[in-house]
Amino acid sequence: AEPLKVALLGCGVVGSAVARQLTEDADDLAARVGAPLELVGVAVRDLDKPRPESGVPTELFTTDAEDLVTRADLVIELMGGLEPARSLLLRAIEHGAGVVTANKALLGADGPTLYAAADARGVDLSFEASVAGAIPLLRPLRESLAGDDVQRVMGIVNGTTNFILDKMDRTGAALSEVLAEAQELGYAEADPTADVEGYDAQAKAAILASLAFHTRVATSDVHCEGIMGVTAEDIRDARKIGCVVKLLAICDRSADGVSARVHPTLVPRSHPLATVHGAFNAVFLDTALAGELMFYGQGAGARPTASAVLGDLVQAARHRVDGGHGPRESAYAHLPILPIAST
Ligand code: NDP
Ligand code: HSE
Repeated sequence: AEPLKVALLGCGVVGSAVARQLTEDADDLAARVGAPLELVGVAVRDLDKPRPESGVPTELFTTDAEDLVTRADLVIELMGGLEPARSLLLRAIEHGAGVVTANKALLGADGPTLYAAADARGVDLSFEASVAGAIPLLRPLRESLAGDDVQRVMGIVNGTTNFILDKMDRTGAALSEVLAEAQELGYAEADPTADVEGYDAQAKAAILASLAFHTRVATSDVHCEGIMGVTAEDIRDARKIGCVVKLLAICDRSADGVSARVHPTLVPRSHPLATVHGAFNAVFLDTALAGELMFYGQGAGARPTASAVLGDLVQAARHRVDGGHGPRESAYAHLPILPIAST
């Protein structure tokens, strides 16, 4: 079969790992897709920055992302931020490309615009990596559980803050001492304020609530308190009463509507969420038919996130080869968003 042209927007922590895997695993990926995947360009800001870890030949780097997205069958967006990511994805969709993104900030702020554009054009818009890193969670919500009714989504969806709170619990360190380490390990956002203030988990809660409850929950609908106020003393006090502090995202559906919130929570040490260490994430679903489901795995970092991105890419590429596309998200009904009292 003809090669499928792949454009990569961004070659930082995640983009580098995706690019490397595209090259190193090219034969296996081609076999799984039914056609070779040809990387035709990688958009970055700084052409002079060395990127040996990506394995991308120098001539493929470009600063002209607008042109690049019009030359591809499949576009992977790993730049982050609202703009130019939104315009580039819309341009790619307009040109008929299937798109893959890990950009929870964009999806939480303006997912419906992208869903509508992809559905109107009949192309894939996949974003498994946008919530809980490597954990297959959004595809189960969008596909496997499409015939069930999800009533609650609850869990740890930010690796950076879990890494910080876990290290504070184990070593007694202060938050500021641990944040730099989370950044060095590639877990934190480009601006780590998004992690520690809870905004990253807030956007993820909006995506989860939208998919789980088949409605439209935006980031601004999610009550949010981050971990900046959590002190070493708070962690010690929690320990004294047999608890750990975790930043939880909790999304509920009731007869009246839906609600979503993110805040630090005391979790008894006997609860499975208390045993989630480092940058791991864990999410529980309560559904009408399946009952309780638990998802667990690495929630951040280059290679775990690349796993989810590449899974989406293979699926979108298969659709290019065989026809069809992923689930449509633009037809969601609107349910009332219930207010959350401050905790
Ligand atoms: P990085 O900051 O490491 O990389 C961003 C890349 O995008 C860089 O290569 C940068 O170029 C490029 N870029 C940014 N703005 C532009 C622009 N205007 N034009 C062209 N290129 C641009 O981010 P990450 O790899 O950590 O994250 C990427 C995305 O994945 C984000 O949406 C993030 O939220 C998401 N994500 C990240 C995870 C992680 O563990 N890190 C996990 C799950 C999702 P340059 O290098 O030249 O500056
Ligand atoms: N900064 C995010 C986190 C990356 O720490 O969870 C994964 O989405």
